[in-house]
Amino acid sequence: MPASPDSPAPAPITVATSPFQGQRPGTSGLRKKTRVFMQPGYLENFTQSVFDAIGGLAGRVLVLGGDGRFFNAAAIQVILRMAAANGAARVIVGQGGILSTPAASNLIRLHGADGGIILSASHNPGGEDQDFGMKFNGPNGGPAPEAVTEAIHARSLEIDAYRTLDSADLDLSTLGCRQLGATEVEIIDPVADYAALMERLFDFDAIRALFAGGFTMRFDAMHAVTGPYAREIFERRLGAAPGSVVNAVPLPDFGGGHPDPNPVWARELFDLMMGAEAPDFGAASDGDGDRNMIMGRGVYVTPSDSLAVLAANAALAPGYAAGIRGIARSMPTSRAADRVAAARGVGMYETPTGWKFFGNLLDAGRVTICGEESAGTGSDHVREKDGLWAVLLWLNILAARREPVAAIMAAHWAEYGRDYYSRHDYEAVAADRAEALIARLRALLPALPGQEFAGLRVESADDFAYHDPVDGSTSAHQGIRVMFTDGSRVVLRLSGTGTEGATLRVYLERHAAPGEDHGLAPETALAPVIAAAEALALIRGHTGRDRPDVTT
Ligand code: G6P
Ligand code: ZN
Repeated sequence: MPASPDSPAPAPITVATSPFQGQRPGTSGLRKKTRVFMQPGYLENFTQSVFDAIGGLAGRVLVLGGDGRFFNAAAIQVILRMAAANGAARVIVGQGGILSTPAASNLIRLHGADGGIILSASHNPGGEDQDFGMKFNGPNGGPAPEAVTEAIHARSLEIDAYRTLDSADLDLSTLGCRQLGATEVEIIDPVADYAALMERLFDFDAIRALFAGGFTMRFDAMHAVTGPYAREIFERRLGAAPGSVVNAVPLPDFGGGHPDPNPVWARELFDLMMGAEAPDFGAASDGDGDRNMIMGRGVYVTPSDSLAVLAANAALAPGYAAGIRGIARSMPTSRAADRVAAARGVGMYETPTGWKFFGNLLDAGRVTICGEESAGTGSDHVREKDGLWAVLLWLNILAARREPVAAIMAAHWAEYGRDYYSRHDYEAVAADRAEALIARLRALLPALPGQEFAGLRVESADDFAYHDPVDGSTSAHQGIRVMFTDGSRVVLRLSGTGTEGATLRVYLERHAAPGEDHGLAPETALAPVIAAAEALALIRGHTGRDRPDVTT
């Protein structure tokens, strides 16, 4: 495509700066209050640190986009100028600065780009007084591995200058190529390539026939990035009734909501699906489009169960017809998927929390499907979790099996047993108190086996350490894991994505074998495990709270 002739050709300038403390990427990139990112030089320092840590940008190709939250548009312009001043050959940017996380991952792979920058704080609220974030993904399309994020952080501590251009903002509202200094900026449709990928993986004809037969669905885009993707795919290409996609217009503050697809934050959808007017299928996605929530009429599918059901039924979709090679889940995710892997004789991998840990396993071809309790599911089609992918795989399965979601769940539990599961979050706890709770447990670990807590006896306990079988690296201190003799499990860890104090996550699960009662309310089934967790970890005393802030 020819570059527009009126482009300016400004010369790169070097701006002196000094380091900001705390530019260390967490579970998923650097995430801070928006106003922190808006400080003069803050975004610039981190961006230059990324470029420097990957060996410079000269002659390289970058994908750039974000979830459209407050400050997205301004930050995209800053990064474009810096990419050009750092000598990038080409930057591929989503129209209007918009790209969902999985779509960005796909574009990196499709164009053989050297990496990508995604602006998002995922499911955290957006706005001037809310959250902002920036993550770097590598050439495989996945979140930068720890070695890279550590190098970015190290660079941020010694940075003394960044490069930029003295140039006007580029118009990102129309498709096509623009010239920025010596860099070509290609503005692309954020949806097209992603939708084409989905058409290759799933049986769109079967799903179209399902909708044509009267199947109903509601997809809640939560005023976040998936709106345009969902309208195009579900309503236009698959024939879901117009209006099936709600809250479809992305807004800088997500309409004042909290774009996290779970029963708490997607309450409206949850209530609809549990009520008399429920459609056949309900789903939602988060700020940047990588998370998902799945519901049937009268049934909420936990992310851990969803992973297991998707893995067990993946072969019904054309893209996975040959079967799956293996499954990976994060350690706190329930062991439901392990039972599927064992039954199918495929590999099962348990990794720390964070999608980046799946990258090596996917690249090495060891696993096809991955998932996390935090509402992330995905496969080797990209290197991020993918909300719409999960929804489409469910639709493909529903189209093939022609059974309601509730029947599919019941059949799954009858075959594998049910892993009752819940997560309790204690948010914005004083960091020292949360750390003290974990430190106490760590010190107790060797003595725990054999001890009883509220009637449950500890079988084994450890502080999870992951040994990556592909690159040999070790990631220690990834969460306290306590296994009880009746097969129950409690996991405790501190979140790596919060922006205020510490968030303590307590993951609770109990297996009810095939033939046992699978119809209990999770809080009933888990009552003994919840009591044991309190007796063991003294959560109330440490946090000063008598109940969790969020239960999922
Ligand atoms: C992000 C990451 C996930 C992770 C989740 C929860 O969504 O991409 O990989 O599971 O955050 O992380 P946290 O450290 O807050 O429990
Ligand atoms: Zn997300």
